[in-house]
Amino acid sequence: MSDDDSRLRPALRDRLAGHSVVVTGAGTGEGVGNGQAIGRLLAAQGAAVVCGDLHRDRAEQVAAGIRDDGGTAAAVAGDVRDPEVAAALVQAAVDLSGRLTGLVCTVGIGGATSVLHPPDPDPWQQVLDVNVTGALRCVRAAAPALVAAGGGSIVTVGSTAGMRYYQPGALAYATSKAALTGLTTSVAGELGPHRVRANTVVIGQVWSPMVAAAAARQADPAA
Ligand SMILES: NC(=O)c1ccc[n+]([C@@H]2O[C@H](COP(=O)([O-])OP(=O)(O)OC[C@H]3O[C@@H](n4cnc5c(N)ncnc54)[C@H](O)[C@@H]3O)[C@@H](O)[C@H]2O)c1
Repeated sequence: MSDDDSRLRPALRDRLAGHSVVVTGAGTGEGVGNGQAIGRLLAAQGAAVVCGDLHRDRAEQVAAGIRDDGGTAAAVAGDVRDPEVAAALVQAAVDLSGRLTGLVCTVGIGGATSVLHPPDPDPWQQVLDVNVTGALRCVRAAAPALVAAGGGSIVTVGSTAGMRYYQPGALAYATSKAALTGLTTSVAGELGPHRVRANTVVIGQVWSPMVAAAAARQADPAA
């Protein structure tokens, strides 16, 4: 256990024993992103964790860190927009512990665009595809396994940007986060009768590699 994880109250340490969770966007390398933090915390509570990310080396690094701390983890690299990647994430969880009981959709990207001054190329479609369609791909891949496990939990990572005006340029990001909340509510309605919960955790700003990169771009737009 790392120093941070060992601070968990003993009662929490085995709370998720026997559970197996896919966390997308868990491969943040330099600095700790939300996905890595979620994956490590789930593992510290006893869950087997599949760390998914676009970057293979980073996903493998986080999974290795969990194993070094005594946890159970595997890494799957690929783009959440690809249904084959979504299927591989679920299969890896089943391979780890025989079943899937949780999915955390943490992948999210920014991309500045606006009504009056859209850049060329415009990142609108890419942001919607990654943040919304990517989450749907993972939910669709995970749902049969969650139902087969007798129930489970889906969490999507939302943003206050999807609830109120955030900042200039956040048109696509804010729209995607509002859509993600709607998607999650619909998933909860459809899968609830199968004992699968779905919730969006709406977070405010936390310092992460994504936020650090945005701050650097604001400080030096030419960089
Ligand atoms: N940091 C904040 O202040 C903040 C605030 C509100 C919401 N959020 C949300 O938290 C989530 C994580 O953000 P973060 O700040 O930790 O960012 P981050 O950039 O550190 O993490 C995102 C991860 O997703 C991965 N990724 C990106 N596109 C992918 C794709 N197509 N397929 C697979 N993996 C992909 C990246 O490689 C990265 O590891 C996002 O959904 C973000 O919108 C962050």
